[in-house]
Amino acid sequence: MAKEESTKEDFTYSQTIDPGPEMDAKALTQAVNELEDENRAIRSTLTRLEEESGMLRELFNNANKELSNIKKPALLVADVVNVQGDKAIIKLPNGNKFYCYIANDVKDLHSGDSALVDQKSLNIVSKASLSDSLEVEKFVIMQKPAENWKHIGGLKDEIREIKEIIELPLLKPQLFEKVGITPPKGLLLFGPPGTGKTLLAKAVANSTNATFIEVVGSELVQKFIGEGAKLVKDIFALARKRAPAIVFIDEIDALAATRMDTGTSGEREVNRTFMQLLAELDGFEHLGNVKVIGATNRIDILDQAIIRPGRLDRLIEVGLPDVEGRLEIMRVHTQNMNLQKVQMKDLVQSMENFSGAEIRAACTEAGYFAIRQEREFVTNDDFLQAIEKVRMEDEDSEDGKFFG
Ligand SMILES: Nc1ncnc2c1ncn2[C@@H]1O[C@H](COP(=O)(O)OP(=O)(O)OP(=O)(O)O)[C@@H](O)[C@H]1O
Ligand SMILES: [Mg+2]
Repeated sequence: MAKEESTKEDFTYSQTIDPGPEMDAKALTQAVNELEDENRAIRSTLTRLEEESGMLRELFNNANKELSNIKKPALLVADVVNVQGDKAIIKLPNGNKFYCYIANDVKDLHSGDSALVDQKSLNIVSKASLSDSLEVEKFVIMQKPAENWKHIGGLKDEIREIKEIIELPLLKPQLFEKVGITPPKGLLLFGPPGTGKTLLAKAVANSTNATFIEVVGSELVQKFIGEGAKLVKDIFALARKRAPAIVFIDEIDALAATRMDTGTSGEREVNRTFMQLLAELDGFEHLGNVKVIGATNRIDILDQAIIRPGRLDRLIEVGLPDVEGRLEIMRVHTQNMNLQKVQMKDLVQSMENFSGAEIRAACTEAGYFAIRQEREFVTNDDFLQAIEKVRMEDEDSEDGKFFG
């Protein structure tokens, strides 16, 4: 009976029942019970094996699918220039344009979209949704900065101005509505290297809780050749989506430098990127909650177009700190240092023409002097030596500097 129920032949029962005359009823019941137990155990093993086999089959199918995907030729990504019924003009990344067919199931294709294109026929296979934030998000740094106002020494006037232009409109837009003025879209921080421009931009982003989108001008044109203009467009689209947002363009001179000749393709590319930036700055008037901060230490070569009214029309100079500023910066950077008899007021006198970055370097260097002598505290003498060292390094690199 038990044998009939089991359809699988590979299960063998460990015992067979031989109901001989000497087997009493009790022993028989026990034997039957044992067999039933065994039967149950086998069934559950069977179920488990069937499940396992199902899973393996699925794994196999997936691997097969993956394999066939890998074997497929890659599709090209092209820009759709113009759609004409079931055909379109596309532009490949190399700049060449083609007139091609659009596959039947591709709907809602418009000029300006990105499309996936078959390598051989160049026909449009599908719409590519990569113009979306996902792609830009890989290119830009989008993190809430840790820096805040407390990390900045000096620069009182600059901080006040930035608060008025960026922070206040983002935090209290109704104030501007009531008074009836539109706050500037953005500002340009300029001045010698290491004076705290990047620091200021990060601190204001921190204080407003706005999405902080950081891009570096030189990277925009060097790393993403041919993509710069599109990237600028996407960055601003992202900013609008994540508003309130601050777009911080460091080294904006890499994009917006006046150029003597625009002959080479590289310069044409930079120019396109720059034009797109201007277009974006002009275009987002209605969105008061996106602010743009540019930073440069080459105001001398900056294209005036970028600072025209309605664009980055507030210029804030971030200069070298005066003696009072140097003292405050030194306080910031020695905050966690174990100092012994350090005469800060005297030391900052001797740091003439030091930038904030150099003051920080001097503090770190002083700490190294202590460590080298196996001391756990930093003395005035350590600072004197450190300042001298930083000054020497500064003079060594003076030749290569634009400012100074
Ligand atoms: N005013 C300041 N207060 C405190 N630290 C400062 C100040 N200025 C500069 N520093 C220090 O120097 C570092 C570099 O400054 P930052 O990157 O802001 O300079 P920058 O003006 O953007 O320079 P660059 O033009 O080279 O980009 C900062 O991270 C900070 O440690
Ligand atoms: Mg900087």
